[in-house]
Amino acid sequence: MSNVHSERVLEVQHYTDRLFRFRVTRPQSLRFCSGEFVMLGLPDDIKPVMRAYSIASPAWDESLEFFSIKVPGGPLTERLQKIQVGDEILLRPKTTGTLVNDALLPGRRLFMLSTGTGVAPFVSLIRDPETYEKFESVILTHTCRTVGELKYGFDSVAATHQDPLVGEEATARLKHFASTTREPSEHNGRITNLIETGEFFASLGIPAFDAAHDRIMMCGSMGMIKDIRQMLEPKGFTEGSHSQPGNFVVERAFVG
Ligand code: A2P
Repeated sequence: MSNVHSERVLEVQHYTDRLFRFRVTRPQSLRFCSGEFVMLGLPDDIKPVMRAYSIASPAWDESLEFFSIKVPGGPLTERLQKIQVGDEILLRPKTTGTLVNDALLPGRRLFMLSTGTGVAPFVSLIRDPETYEKFESVILTHTCRTVGELKYGFDSVAATHQDPLVGEEATARLKHFASTTREPSEHNGRITNLIETGEFFASLGIPAFDAAHDRIMMCGSMGMIKDIRQMLEPKGFTEGSHSQPGNFVVERAFVG
């Protein structure tokens, strides 16, 4: 097939029966901004099924990381979850996405709100020095059904703290808030409820959202995005895009 890169799987790590991460070689010509997604698929005799995947590694990384759901019977993930080191992966050369610093107005605090695999673009952004150049504090939230599903986020934040490029900034200015909805953990409940009740802000010891200085990125379930949008718009937050930066930006996480 023309117009696709053929790459190789370098690493695969399964977290739960629903989630796994994998790393592939990066095409030398592939350029992207941290937070963007790419179309990814597997070789097939007929027509490869390509799906949008957020790149979880930062723009400067030599290889590309992805965090995926496993959907039983899913057109791509049913096969993708069985990949092994050395297998072939197809990537389209173009990347895109709205979860980029350029779609946001300048601000002081950057909130990244995610559910499930929606944490992936933020794992890229927390390792990008530009994120710390543009914002004084960076707050990543990750909500999943179970504790096991949060592990990728915890591991990624721990790796960011050790990162030679951004480790010092991240240790001082990156906060991570993780909650579960179907199993007890340190913080319980949907992020929407935790924001509404104020528990989220209280537990981090920070003031509530203020459109003047706060910028928000969301990625994950459609329901979460809809509910947060409804909370933000009455507070004066406007949605941003590349052509018109705003106070918040959204992206739906990949499913299927
Ligand atoms: P819940 O367990 O209450 O459905 P999924 O694994 O289905 O993609 O969900 C990831 C996380 O997103 C789950 O913790 C889920 O909570 C949460 N979630 C689903 N819908 C919403 C919503 N409308 N608002 C906030 N969180 C949500």
